[in-house]
Amino acid sequence: MKLLHVDASPKQASSSSRTLSRFFVDQLRAYSPSLSVDYLDLAAEAPPAMTEIFARATYTSPEERTPQMRAELAVSDALCARLLSADALLFAMPMHNWTMPAAFKAFVDMIVRGGLTYVATDDGRYVGTLGGRKTLFLTTRGVDLRPGTPFAAMDALTPALRAAFGFIGVTDPVFVDAQPMQFAHEVERAAAMRRAKAELSLHAKAWSETEPRAALSRAG
Ligand SMILES: Cc1cc2nc3c(=O)[nH]c(=O)nc-3n(C[C@H](O)[C@H](O)[C@H](O)COP(=O)(O)O)c2cc1C
Repeated sequence: MKLLHVDASPKQASSSSRTLSRFFVDQLRAYSPSLSVDYLDLAAEAPPAMTEIFARATYTSPEERTPQMRAELAVSDALCARLLSADALLFAMPMHNWTMPAAFKAFVDMIVRGGLTYVATDDGRYVGTLGGRKTLFLTTRGVDLRPGTPFAAMDALTPALRAAFGFIGVTDPVFVDAQPMQFAHEVERAAAMRRAKAELSLHAKAWSETEPRAALSRAG
């Protein structure tokens, strides 16, 4: 199994999402020693902010792109290639201001690409090309947003991830949300960490028991 592992926290050693994503990869490797990991740290390799040339180039057909447009799309092309060559995806990030951290949004802007991660069909549909990949979103939150809590309605992160990745073919992702990780008593924080690790262990076992379906790099 080839896993693309993306971390998006601006924090390093003290990051809870990085601790948990490492835990998941270690569990996965214990079950599948042949696991190969392509690691992307968005704090170290921040995707560039979108420019006007990029915004025009992405909707210009490849044969009509100028050399400047092609150069502007190069980072995005490379990130799409990394996604398409993986057969499992792990995205770890903190919640920032109720949604995804800015570095991860910049990453999303680079990987939603017509002709690469989605295609338009002759009958007017859009079809994502990332179908068949096991996908896990690991998010850490300062407060508890589980159903029934006062912050439950504030989760703009889960729907944003579902929409953007659903569009490019990630139709059945798994979510592990560690919460509350910051604005709570240490007993609650420790319990949140234990819950997240227990869920991650179960998912690692489940992933190791089923082979990923062949990566689909074309419209189905
Ligand atoms: C700038 C900033 C904004 C944050 N916004 C939220 C938020 O809207 N909701 C929330 O529950 N936690 C919020 N947090 C807390 C983090 O999500 C939480 O501490 C998380 O565990 C951090 O993960 P990390 O250690 O991997 O960066 C915020 C933290 C920072 C630094």
